[in-house]
Amino acid sequence: MKKKPLVVANWKMNPATFREAKKLFDATKRAAEKVRGISVVVAPPAIFLRGLSGAYKGKRVAFAAQDVSADEGGAHTGELSAAQIKDARAKYIIVGHSERRASGESDADVRRKTRAVLDAKLTPIICVGERERGASGEHFDVVRRQLQAAFADVASGEATRVVVAYEPIWAIGKEETMPPRAMHEMAIFIRKTLVATHGESAMSLSVIYGGAATEENAGAMLSYGDVTGLLVGHVSIDAQRFAALLREAGNI
Ligand code: PGA
Repeated sequence: MKKKPLVVANWKMNPATFREAKKLFDATKRAAEKVRGISVVVAPPAIFLRGLSGAYKGKRVAFAAQDVSADEGGAHTGELSAAQIKDARAKYIIVGHSERRASGESDADVRRKTRAVLDAKLTPIICVGERERGASGEHFDVVRRQLQAAFADVASGEATRVVVAYEPIWAIGKEETMPPRAMHEMAIFIRKTLVATHGESAMSLSVIYGGAATEENAGAMLSYGDVTGLLVGHVSIDAQRFAALLREAGNI
């Protein structure tokens, strides 16, 4: 059976108040309820997570955190553990987003965080992607290195519990994705890389695309990019645009 497309709304550090977050969530929820056949996940700033999830009684939208500590508890000022995030009713946690990597997160951190998320019985959405693309294909080496690190402590039987989000950093925040054909090639590369380390079952791993996913290009990317979903940044904080994107995703 074909997997339902997974559309993840990464709100990043938006909006400024809980009141606005509630408004955006209500609009997102209404849009999600109108579209069948897709799974919608909202990743708000962690401080809004419990307030939104606690008030939501529906089933159409799941919640995610945007980051997590690799540690279980203790003296880690400012950090949140996977157990705390789970307690706030999140099902997913984004790990290794390029904006976190840019502020110092290493492959070793991503490896430990992935393990912490799996141990809490949540789904990690591991972000990989190159900063820039040269002609000689170095971007494949970058992605391979990131994947191998992230999956280093993931057992073969667990690989399909992970979602891989490929996000070329050069597309993030823009309006145009990379060509779906190029994504198709990357999706095959990602699966092959993980089949080599984690066996055949990694063929059915969920690979999603992020970086300038919009209501204009979502349909083409889901139809031709060999991906089972999208990680959406700036368009997800514009309720109208996101509703249009969900309709597109639901139409494929
Ligand atoms: P964007 O961000 O949709 O604004 O490009 C995607 C992301 O950074 O996850």
